[in-house]
Formats: sequence, C-alpha cells, structure tokens
Amino acid sequence: MNTAQFISSPISKTISATSFTWRTPSNIALVKYWGKYGAQLPKNPSISFTLNACFTLTTLEIVKLEKKEKEVSFEIFFEGKKEPSFKPKIASFFKKIEAYVPFIFDYKFVIKSRNSFPHSSGIASSASGMSALALCIMSLEKALNPAISKTYFNRKASFLARLGSGSASRSIEGPVVLWGKYKKIAGSSDVYAIPLPNKIHENFKNYHDTILLVDKGQKQVSSTVGHDLMHAHPYAANRFEQAFENVEILSKILETGNLKAFINLVEHEALTLHAMMMTSNPYFILMKPNTLQIINKIWDYRAATNSNICFTLDAGANVHVLYPEKEKEKTIAFIQDNLLVYCENNQYICDRLGLGAKPMSVK
Ligand code: DP6
Repeated sequence: MNTAQFISSPISKTISATSFTWRTPSNIALVKYWGKYGAQLPKNPSISFTLNACFTLTTLEIVKLEKKEKEVSFEIFFEGKKEPSFKPKIASFFKKIEAYVPFIFDYKFVIKSRNSFPHSSGIASSASGMSALALCIMSLEKALNPAISKTYFNRKASFLARLGSGSASRSIEGPVVLWGKYKKIAGSSDVYAIPLPNKIHENFKNYHDTILLVDKGQKQVSSTVGHDLMHAHPYAANRFEQAFENVEILSKILETGNLKAFINLVEHEALTLHAMMMTSNPYFILMKPNTLQIINKIWDYRAATNSNICFTLDAGANVHVLYPEKEKEKTIAFIQDNLLVYCENNQYICDRLGLGAKPMSVK
C-alpha cells in the first residue's frame, strides 16, 4: 500500500482567497463493507452503485492566513446555520488528512454544506458529506499545484474521503465503484476506490433505487460501533471470505446483465449484513416490522409478476428498492400502491445510478 504517493509535493504558489463548490452523491453498497482495521482499511472489498438525487452540496471558502496556525482553522455552516456540533467530526477529519495536505494549515476555511435529502431521514450523510469536503480540499491542492493529473485528483480525493468515512471513498466517481484490494481486479486498492473497470451491461443503465423511509430516526448503532462488532464476531472470517467471492461474482453479473443472479446476490448481501448484526455480541435488530412487510411484499410481487425488483438495506430500517429502467412505470406504481403505507409519513426518495461528483464553480 503506497500512501506516500498522496503526500502533496512542496508548494511554492499561494492563493489569497478563493472558494470551491462540489455536489457529491451518496452511494448504496451492493457487496457490503462491514468490518475495518487500522487507518480505515476494509476487511473486504465492496461494490456500490453511485446515486444521483441524494447528494451533499459543499462550498469551501478559503482565505490565506497571515501566519500558519497549529490547528486547522475553520467554521462550519449546515443548511444556512452555524453548526458547532459538527466541529469535532470535521476537526478529527482534518487531523487524519493533515499529513497528506499540509497546506491546509496556511488557510482559514468556512465550510457551507447542505444535503438534498432531509437530515433526519435515516440516510447516512457521511459518504456524500466527507467526499464533498475531500473534493474541495483537492480543488485547493489542484489550484496550488495545477500539474496533478485527473486520475491522481480522483484517487487522492477518494483516499482522503476514506479517512473521514470508509463508504465516502466510493462517492467520488460512478456509476459502479469498487473499494478494496481484490487481486483479480487490476487497479483495486484498500486505500481508495475506483470505478469498476468491467464493462457494465445495458440492463444496469439508469438502474433505479427508490429509497423507502421506514424509520427516519437517528441510527441505532453508529457505523464505528457496528464495524467494531466484527472484531470478536464468531462468523467474521467466513463473512469476509464470502464478500471477496461476491465481489468477483457481482462484477461478472454486472458485465453479463444477469438480473436474476443480481437479485439473488444483492438481497443475500443485505440480509447477511443484518445477520452479522443480529449475531454479534451485543446484538442488534436494525430492521423494523415495516422493513419485513416491505421485503415480503417485494417477494410476493416478484413471484407473481416475474419482475426484476429487489431490495438492499443499509445498517438501518430503510429499504432501497432496486429495479431496471425498463420496468420503471410498473414498479413505481407497485411501490406507490403497496409499499408507501409502510413508510414514515409515506416518505420516499426516487434515485438512480449516477455518474459521480460534480464541481459546481471551481475558480
Ligand atoms: C452498512 O462508511 O458509514 O453502509 O468507515 O466507520 O465511516 P465508517 O463506516 P461507514 O460504513 C458503511 C457501512 C454500510 C455498508 C457499506 O456502505 O458498504
């Protein structure tokens, strides 16, 4: 693992004041990352769909300091309001990345961030939030050192985002992303994510993810606690081995367009993630009764219609309903007529496969 490649080269240029804005998507894992070690390194590789409608929009305002400070100097505004409660998380992120971007001590930052999805929707904002900030920092590095290549820019953005939150490493590019070293996939790495190099079959073009908000409350188990549970987990070793195999199987499925095999693998991964939580100690049930109602309705509908609808889950009760573009009308009608009753205030978000983060106004 060569992380020294991500230490910025000495910089002679200075910038007195500027700002950068990035729109960065959320992502949904198909093969799940659950278990980590060391400096945010995954115990197994994961594959995700990059989303489009669920995103964070972050502006980083930058002013050169007269004198370098010992700590990174910043303020944070979330949805228009100063949000000091977010400071410790961001301060710890800056600590983790400072060795790779030492120029951050020369500037004062104002971070202005907002999400396209409601804050209390049970949708994790750390992936889109951390990747947006990492990209803004990379825009500053690029302004200071214009020679850096696009590949280096994206890889280092993913590398920095990973130090903030593992899944954030997968929110830089799209439409399908792999994070974690897998020897059969050239270019894969534990320290940053890459777009899956395999060809993606037409069947997955514009794939839909309708997110059913079953429980909009705070996460019952933080991901840090969740990942920690895998350390002493009796089934962990088998689970990690299975995820490696599933990465290989899924990358082939994505190439061949075998939707039935996709459904089987994706639902199995989702339920395995929850099975790991149910069988750790302490143990957790993160699904709610309505999560199970939805799953059963999806299974009944699929059996009756031969639809290619399926579901996946995050570490919570919300359900991501996945389906191909070709089945859009029928599936949305099914969701509206049969599944929304199980959502809090009938709330859901229509999302689909996206192409990755976008700079909004890089000066
Ligand atoms: C269940 O990326 O939130 O969503 O690295 O501790 O920030 P940290 O964890 P996080 O874990 C995501 C877990 C998951 C599966 C996945 O996205 O792969």
